[in-house]
Amino acid sequence: MNTSNSYEIAQLGAQVLRQMAISVPDVHDADIQQLIKDMQTALSASEGVGLAAPQIGVSKCIIIVASKPTRRYPCAPLMEATVMINPSFEILSATTEKDWEGCLSIPGIRALVPRYTHIMAHYTDIQGIGVTLPMEGFVARVFQHEFDHLEGKVYLDKVENNTDIISESEYFKLH
Ligand code: NI
Repeated sequence: MNTSNSYEIAQLGAQVLRQMAISVPDVHDADIQQLIKDMQTALSASEGVGLAAPQIGVSKCIIIVASKPTRRYPCAPLMEATVMINPSFEILSATTEKDWEGCLSIPGIRALVPRYTHIMAHYTDIQGIGVTLPMEGFVARVFQHEFDHLEGKVYLDKVENNTDIISESEYFKLH
């Protein structure tokens, strides 16, 4: 791998994963545009379906949701990689569903996590335009997972029971 294009993903225990991220006042700021490029590069180099800025060591409110079938998530639906700046969401239905999640910051582990099935996401896009987007199912799950990273939370914090945590090698035997 070209070292100039490789990004170290912050691993569980790193303080940056436990901090509240700072909102982005100006999307057009050169440092922010560079940060977004770095996030896109880091995500493409991984088998992940989403990434939050704190995962590359920058505590700013930017996530990428990029659901696509990968080796890590063979059944993920395909959507265009979407950069979301200062995201927030409303819960559209109290219904939650448990499904498997993993995280590039917590390698080797999968767990069942309850998430809202239907949400309305709000964010600023890469051009600085405000967007409102209904999301459901796996894509809504990825959004909620990445959003949690901006609040200093990881998916293991949302697991209901320790028995819902398994090793990735066992997960791949099941899926
Ligand atoms: Ni994660």
